Order: sequence, then C-alpha cells, then structure tokens
Amino acid sequence: MNKIMEVLDNMEYGPAPEDSAIVRDWLACHEAGFGHFIDGGFTKPSDPFEVTNPATGKVIARVSQGAATDVDAAVKAARAAQPKWAALSGHDRARHLYALARHIQQHARFLAVLETIDNGKPIRESRDIDIPLVIRHFYHHAGWAEIMADEFPGATPHGVCGQVIPWNFPLLMLAWKVAPALAAGNSVVLKPAEYTPLTALALAEIAREAGLPKGVLNIVTGDGETGALITGHDGIDKVAFTGSTEVGRLIRRQIAGSGKALTLELGGKSPFIVFADADLDAAVEGVVDSIWFNQGQVCCAGSRILVAESVAARFTELLSRRMETLITGDPLEKSTDIGAIVHPVQLARIRSLVERGRAEGAQIHQGSAPSGCFYPPTFVTEVEPASTLATEEVFGPVVTLTPFRTPEDAVALANNTRYGLAGSVWSENINLAIDIAAKIKAGVIWINSANLFDAGAGFGGYRESGFGREGGREGMSAYLRHPAPRAKKPETAPPAPVATPVEGMAASAIDRTAKLYIGGKQARPDSGYSYAVAGAKGPVGLAGLGNRKDIRNAVEAAHKATGWGVQTGHNRAQVLYYLAENLSARAEEFTGRLKSFGHSGSAAKTEVEISIRRIFWYAAQADKFDGAVHQTKSAHVTLAMNEPLGVMGIACPNAYPLLGFVSLVLPAIAMGNRVVALPSQTHPLAATDLYQVIDTSDVPGGVVNIVTGERDPLAKTLAEHDDVDALWYFGTAAGAAMAEAASAGNLKQTWCEDGAARDWTTAQGQGRQFLTRATQVKNIWVPHGE
Ligand code: NAI
Repeated sequence: MNKIMEVLDNMEYGPAPEDSAIVRDWLACHEAGFGHFIDGGFTKPSDPFEVTNPATGKVIARVSQGAATDVDAAVKAARAAQPKWAALSGHDRARHLYALARHIQQHARFLAVLETIDNGKPIRESRDIDIPLVIRHFYHHAGWAEIMADEFPGATPHGVCGQVIPWNFPLLMLAWKVAPALAAGNSVVLKPAEYTPLTALALAEIAREAGLPKGVLNIVTGDGETGALITGHDGIDKVAFTGSTEVGRLIRRQIAGSGKALTLELGGKSPFIVFADADLDAAVEGVVDSIWFNQGQVCCAGSRILVAESVAARFTELLSRRMETLITGDPLEKSTDIGAIVHPVQLARIRSLVERGRAEGAQIHQGSAPSGCFYPPTFVTEVEPASTLATEEVFGPVVTLTPFRTPEDAVALANNTRYGLAGSVWSENINLAIDIAAKIKAGVIWINSANLFDAGAGFGGYRESGFGREGGREGMSAYLRHPAPRAKKPETAPPAPVATPVEGMAASAIDRTAKLYIGGKQARPDSGYSYAVAGAKGPVGLAGLGNRKDIRNAVEAAHKATGWGVQTGHNRAQVLYYLAENLSARAEEFTGRLKSFGHSGSAAKTEVEISIRRIFWYAAQADKFDGAVHQTKSAHVTLAMNEPLGVMGIACPNAYPLLGFVSLVLPAIAMGNRVVALPSQTHPLAATDLYQVIDTSDVPGGVVNIVTGERDPLAKTLAEHDDVDALWYFGTAAGAAMAEAASAGNLKQTWCEDGAARDWTTAQGQGRQFLTRATQVKNIWVPHGE
C-alpha cells in the first residue's frame, strides 16, 4: 500500500526495460565476427573493426572492413544476378518483395532491439517508427514491381546500384534504397555506415531466409574508403547516397562523366515556423517530434524555430517547460525520450558546435542528460542568422529559436540557408500555412505536423540538400532508366571561335552581328568581340562572343524575372501559343536561315515545322503537367506539387540549331523556369533570330536569355554559378563530364548527354521526360480533422 502511495505521490514511471535477450543471443552467435554478404552468402570475416553500443560504450560486434577485392566480388555477383532478376515478371519480383516484407515483419521486434543497441535510438522509436516504416516500404515497392510495366512503359532498370547510407536510420535508409532498386529490376551493392552496420547484416540473413535470389542484394561493410570504392566502381550503373553534403559533393565529382545515374539525399537546416495563431501546445510537441526525435540526428529535423514575435515569450516558456520533462537515457528503457548519440565522435562534434555558438554570443538552454554518450535537449536563443548554430547542420538535439515580425520575414529567414530539405509550418490559418509552404524552398513541408514519412510520398531536397526523391512514383522512377539513345556518331568539339572585333564588322561583307539577348534586351558582348558563323558558302553572319561577365549578367536578369514561375499555367500557355504563332508567321525566314547553314530545303522546312509544333505542345502542357495527391496517413492530404527548378542553364546541341534550342528551352519555360541558353556554337543565328520572336510574344524580359560564343567555357561558368539551380548540357562527352564535375559546388541538378544522340525531330526530342526534368516535386502534408 505504501508503495502504491509512493508511486501516486511522485507519478514517476517504474523502469520498463525492453528485453534484449534475443539480440544478445544473436550477437553471441556471431562472436567470431561478420563477413560481407556477397552472392547469397557471408564471406569469412577479415580486417575487422569494432562496433559499439553507444549507450554503454561496450563492443558488441566485429565487422569486416571492405577492401577493393570485396567490392569487386560484390559487384561481380550483382552484375551476374541482375539480368535474371530483371527478366522475372514484375509479379514474380513483387512476390519476392512481399516475402521479404513478411519476413521482416516476423523479425520486427528483434530488428527494433538490434537497431536500438547499435544506434542508441530509443526503443519506442525503433519499434514504432523505424521498423514499421521499413516494412511499409517493402510492401509499397512490391506493389510497384507488380505494376511497373504498365506504369513506366519503356523504362528499364539501371543495372547494378551502388548504395551508401548513413547511421541515423540504418535499416530505414536501407529499405528506402533497396526496396525501389529491387522492385525496378536492379541488383544492389550496399554499404551501411560504419557505426551502425548490424541491422543491414541481419537483413541479409533475413533476405536469404526469405529466398531472395543470390547476388541480387549484396552488403559490404566498411568505412568511407569502402564507400568510395563502391561509388567509383566501373561496374556500378547508378549511385544512391544519403549522408553529409560534403561527401555528396565528393561523390558528384568522383563519378562526373562516368555515365552513372546519381541521386543524393544530403543535409538540412530546416525551418520550423510558428505563427501567432498557431496552437502553441501542439507546436511545442511538434518541436519534440522534430528536433528531439532520434537525438536530432535527422537530416530533415526542424533545427531552426522561427516564432512570431508576439508569441515568442510564451512559446519559449512552454518549450522550456516541456524540455525539462524529457527523459534522456537508456535507449532500451521504454519511457526514454532521447537516447544515446550514435558515437563519441558525433558527440564531440555537437559539443564543439554548441561551444562555438556560445562563443558567438548564443544563449544556451538545456535539459538534462546522464554522463556518457548522451547530449541534453537544447534550444538556443540570441543567434544571428549568419552564426554557426543558425547555419551549420549540428545533427544533434539542438535547435535555434529566432523571433520574426511578418510572414515575409519568416519566409526570408526560412530560405536563408544553402539547404532545402524540409520545413514545418504552424498556423490555424490554412491560407497562410499553404502560402508559406509554397514559398519555402524545400522538398517536404509539414503543416501543423513534423517528421511524417510514408513510402507513398516522395522525400528529398532542393538546393544543397541534394536531388532525386525516395518514395512514391518519383522515387521509383529514380531507379529506372528512360533509355537515352546512343549517338551513332558522337558530337565532336567544333573549332574554337575566332574573335573578331565587333567594330570591324559593319565594314565587312557580312550583313549584321547578332547581339546577345539578356533581360529582354539585345546586349553587346562584354568582350567586344564576335565570331563568324560558317554557312554552306562561307560566313553567313557574326555572333557575339560571350564571356563569364555576360553569363553573370544573364543569370542576374533571369533571377529578376521571378514573376514567371508564379504565373498561372494558363498565362504561360497563352504566351507560348503566341510565340508559336509568331514563329509560324516567320516560318519562311527561319527556313531560309537554316538553308544558309547548309541544310537542305526540306530538312530546313521540317526543322522549322517541328519547332513550331513543339512550342504548341509545351504551351498545351503548361497548365496540364500536374502533381498528385498522395494517400499517405489517414486524415492527411499529401500534395505533391511540381515546382520549377528556378534558373536553369541550358547548353544546346550543335546540330538542329533551331529545334535543339526549342526542344530544351520550351519545356523549361513552360514549367515556369527562367533560362540562360547557350545555343548551337556552330550555328547560333537561328536562336538569335528567335529573340525577335520572343520579344514580340510577350515573354517577359529575363525569362529567356541567350548568350552565344564558345559553348563549353560558357557552360562551365553556368555550372559553377551558385545562383543557377540546374544545368542541362547536350554537347560532347568531355563537355558533359566537365559540366557534371563543375556543378558540384552548389550541387545543382544536371542532365548531361551527347548532343548528337537524340534525333530531335522524333519523340526523342519531346515528351513528359523533359517536363519531369524541368521540375522538382514538393510534398506538402496537410492534416485534417481533429
Ligand atoms: P558521412 O556523409 O561521412 O557518412 C555517410 C556514409 O557515407 C557512411 O556510410 C560513410 O561510410 C560513407 N562515406 C564517407 N565518405 C565517403 C566517400 N568519400 N565515398 C563514399 N562513401 C563515403 O557522414 P558522417 O561523417 O557519418 O557524419 C558527419 C555529418 O554528416 C553529421 O554530423 C551530419 O551533419 C551529416 N550527416 C547527414 C546525414 C543525412 O542524412 N543528411 C546522415 C549522416 C550524417
């Protein structure tokens, strides 16, 4: 009785530890160490490194450091298994994935406990969030395998996927990568993070038990060096990486020009915006789910709270009170809210960033944490927007809190980051919430909620948070190749243009010099030089010789034309119809221009006709290429919106001087992007003639900018430009490699191909693929009901 009174008196929970016996037994069975999982079996352990339980510091397993020979063996096994796997019917692959999902389900408790022991996350999270989402992901993608042939006609798997994942959601990140890859008919070589390799190895055992054909899934353990051996391996066709932005950048450079497909899911510094009319108690719980979930080691964690000034004091007080109730400690204890930090190295990193913040004048508010590899829940006030804690990804339970005055301020602060993974918006006013969601530059926005995930909705970032999506149709599509045609004769680099002073030209026999077209106006090239454009019978004109400065001006002009992306699709369509009509009215003149380059009469006529039709086609798509509403959780709508990428650089192929330009620029602007286009270097005059048509068609200044000159150096400037959001390059193989490598700076999306590979007059030059490439999907989660 006394005992009961005591409990009622202090209302504390008694200890409720999760039983870890099954995991301890499993680890004991593997005391000799783990090898790699290659070709359906485990290799002998070699070059072992220790894996520890971060909550206790004890060594729990020894795992092999993958060497080049291991990676070779895994890639070889994956390569051998892939054709047979891809040749199975979608239905047969689906049955394998269903079986795998069911087997994972049967081992759910074991996996949850193992994850918690390996990673340090609270058992409540691994049991209720990580593992159920893993299972959901396999089931969902089993479904994609079943219907793939109908849903993605003509698409084929990439082949062998090299996948490298982080330690924050070890098994969930594996599921996000492996499930779509296998569903699509690829085979996989995956490397888990060195701190947390155990659930991946357990899953390998489960895959074997579930009868997954050997070689389809291979797991090689090791550190970053092993990771680099996988991503750089010649036998890999697609690389998928989740981890830090720094490593994402290294991989981008490492594989530039290799022809490997790439998706990157990188860091974040996501805003969490609380408006004055928000339900403040709910918003405080949102912070708990956002930054104090998984010890804050979450790429999409809301790590910057922006709160309306009028409620900032009240919100801070509520947050502070809630923070004090959080229990940090033993991850296996069912009442623990915050578990262990994954590794002492990560703990040291969190501490040093917080100390840097303190030195910069930040006020640190903290809850409690035991000694060991734990860090207390923390919020930080008095942080300047440019300070360390407001800009660096801490990857710990540390959030900044900054007041704002107006919604515009909130958006400006929210977007004041190089990242763009996620955001959370709290307001009882749905108009305001969706307006803000639309204005935040990020791939996922949660309204009055935080950190919701579902296999049916795409997840992934804008800007330096990476590109590509995981989950949903977009995620599946990233594991499929929409076969790019092969060039019969690859595009070769044309001779460098010979600079001619612009002044000298009037006197020459050549009739006129085409200027550049920047911000809706003709512009003299900064260099003061032009170059002769060769025709069938000698030079047919002069084009401006653009340089870096011209590109910078063009990018600036494109940036200013912000109105285009927010116009209705209907308005954009009207402008593009008008453009098509105006080109149609001048068809003969354009045909003549193409003939002057040496095109035959009929080829020239066809190119102009198709160009006109293509403009109409993209005009028609401007208000039809829609997003989707996903079925995710109950009482939610998840709006998948196709948004423009922003400012795009487009380097056009040399052949098809008019049609090449139209085929690339039109889908981009139809979707609301602004463009800096580099037309055919050899025959730029068809594109420069077009600016007169653009001018008379009500295309706002700055939406299309044209810089003529030597294509590759200009493309390089575009690739390196931090204010360019995406680059399409259709030229030589060497140019494509350069463009991919040079784009690593701000991790802009690229689409680089041999300019001669496509027959631009056919369906290869037009279609939804171009629209998909010209947009990025933002998923907005909107809860409804109570
Ligand atoms: P990391 O990016 O170095 O590691 C992620 C994975 O990449 C691991 O499997 C690692 O072995 C592998 N890797 C490392 N170097 C590689 C290379 N050159 N080529 C191929 N694979 C390579 O992240 P790390 O060092 O564990 O954490 C450092 C910081 O990165 C964290 O504090 C956090 O800010 C951020 N991070 C972000 C994650 C996200 O999901 N956005 C996940 C993990 C870390």
